[in-house]
This record gives sequence, C-alpha cells and structure tokens, in this order.
Amino acid sequence: MDDENSHLTAGAAALLAESDERRIRAIRSRRWVLYPRAKQALDRLSLLLDHPRGTRMPSVAVYGDSGMGKTMIMKRFRDDHPPSFNSVTGTLRTPVLAMEMTSRPGERRFYAELLTLLGAPQRPRADIAQMEQAALRIMEAIGVQVLVIDEVHNILAGSYREQRIVLNTLRFLSNRLQISLVCFGVNDAREAIGGDVQLARRFEQFTLTRWSANEQFETLVASILRNTPLRRPSVLTPKSLRRILQITEGVTASIFHMINSLAVEAIENGHEQFTDEAVEKWHPEFDVEAAFA
Ligand SMILES: Nc1ncnc2c1ncn2[C@@H]1O[C@H](COP(=O)(O)OP(=O)(O)OP(=O)(O)O)[C@@H](O)[C@H]1O
Ligand SMILES: [Mg+2]
Repeated sequence: MDDENSHLTAGAAALLAESDERRIRAIRSRRWVLYPRAKQALDRLSLLLDHPRGTRMPSVAVYGDSGMGKTMIMKRFRDDHPPSFNSVTGTLRTPVLAMEMTSRPGERRFYAELLTLLGAPQRPRADIAQMEQAALRIMEAIGVQVLVIDEVHNILAGSYREQRIVLNTLRFLSNRLQISLVCFGVNDAREAIGGDVQLARRFEQFTLTRWSANEQFETLVASILRNTPLRRPSVLTPKSLRRILQITEGVTASIFHMINSLAVEAIENGHEQFTDEAVEKWHPEFDVEAAFA
C-alpha cells in the first residue's frame, strides 16, 4: 500500500484509482464494517458452533433498537459459516440456517417458512405433523447446528396461544435436533422469549445499546473512516463526534448514513476529507421537525 494512503484499508485505498462516480457508488453500497461490539457478538455466536451436542444447547438472544445493526450481524454470521460440500459423503452441510420470524406467528406459518428456506416448500394443505417431520428430517440431514431467527419480536403479534405454540416449537426443535438458537430482535423481544420460562433460561443475552460518547464510538467512527475512499486523511474533533451522536441519536444505521453522505459530499466538492465544518453544517435530507413545523 502507498504510504500516502496509509489512512485507508487496502480495499478503500484500491478504490482511489477509480472514477469519482465509482467511489461514490462504492460508498453507497458499502457492505460491512467490523467494529468491536459486532466482533464480540460474532465471536460469541461462533462459540455455539464449537459446543458439543447435548440435551440443553446454549442459545443467544441479541437485542437492540431498530437500526442498531442486528440483521447485518446475522448475515455476517451466516456468511462466515456457509454451507460446505463433503465430497466423500456427497452431502451438503449447512451449519448455520438463518430465517426471519413470520410477521404473524403460528406453527404452520413457521414451518412453511422454514421448509421454503430448506428448499422443500410444502403443498398448501400439508398437515402440521408432516411439515414438522419434513423439517426435522432435512435439518438433520444437512447438519444444521445453529438456527438463527431474525425479527423474533414478531412473535408478540400473535395471540397468547399462538405465542406459546411458536415458543414451544422453538424449544422442540432445539431439543430434538440438539441445535443452538440465536434470536435477534428489538428490545420487546425479551418479553416474547420470556413467555416460555424454560426456553428463556437457555438464552444468554447480548444487547446492542445505542452509541454514546466513549472510546467504542470513536473506534466505530475511525473504522468507518478507514473504509471510506477519500484521498486525504481526516481527524474529527470531539466536537464533531458529539455532533454526529446528537444528530444520529446513537443509532448505527444513522451514523453510517451520515458519514456516507458526508463522504459523497467530500468527493463531489473536491475536499476529499471530513472536516468539522462539514459535520457542523450537515443536516439529514428529511428533517422531521422542519416538515411538521
Ligand atoms: N457493520 C455494519 N457495516 C456497515 N453498515 C452497517 C453495519 N451495521 C449497520 N449498518 C448500516 O445500518 C443499517 C441498518 O442495519 P440493520 O438492518 O442490521 O439494523 P437492524 O438492527 O436489523 O434494524 P431493524 O430492527 O429495523 O431490522 C444497514 O442497512 C447498514 O446501512
Ligand atoms: Mg433487522
């Protein structure tokens, strides 16, 4: 890597050779930036894959407000442990299976979603017992070790009875297949999982709290800047960092959005760096307060 570009990761530095349009597109389609809290979550989840099979498999619930990066972590975890083909046995192994809790919970809907994901959609009139058997058989055959469920707070959209049934189904799958569960959801999801005491006891909780003025937040911003293909290095003062927190209310998605849009601005106006002045002037395109004033 050029010494000149030592403020960037190798990937970001390579983009400097591209046109402005391409750099802007790269910023807008930014995929994944690793920050310490996400790494902690991923490390914790990876441990589940090393756990020996047993009757009470450990599980993890990741909670956080909307936009805190839960789905990003889920996809990363899934993609870090992709299906692999065993050429000796001729079988496919899928250690991590990731799904979304259906928007209205129910045993049938849950199994229908799972079976579609497994590539075995069922006839609309298949009975639940058949669906359950098919899901168990396929998951066993492909060696699922961790079942990941995003949007787990959707369970709360069901009636009390539906909620109990879905939680029962989760416990049943975990026991029967001796697999770990990983659930992602907004803070209300605690209540959803808490509806089944036995199930809840197995879950270790991991919370993604909103960012606040501390070293972790500085590390996040520094990681994003290192991944942002601007020609000149930037140093953001504590004042700018506070401003970013204030505007974004400490929500990960908004922090990425704000920094990305400042980066695009810095390419378009040729400044090629983040400045305190630009941070100070920045406003979200759609200002709710202004709209209702
Ligand atoms: N590690 C990351 N790297 C890059 N961008 C990220 C990262 N984490 C979050 N983002 C940005 O924040 C946005 C929201 O993240 P995500 O969809 O994971 O939030 P969420 O917690 O699942 O929210 P919701 O509860 O509404 O589903 C992403 O679309 C992405 O733009
Ligand atoms: Mg999400």
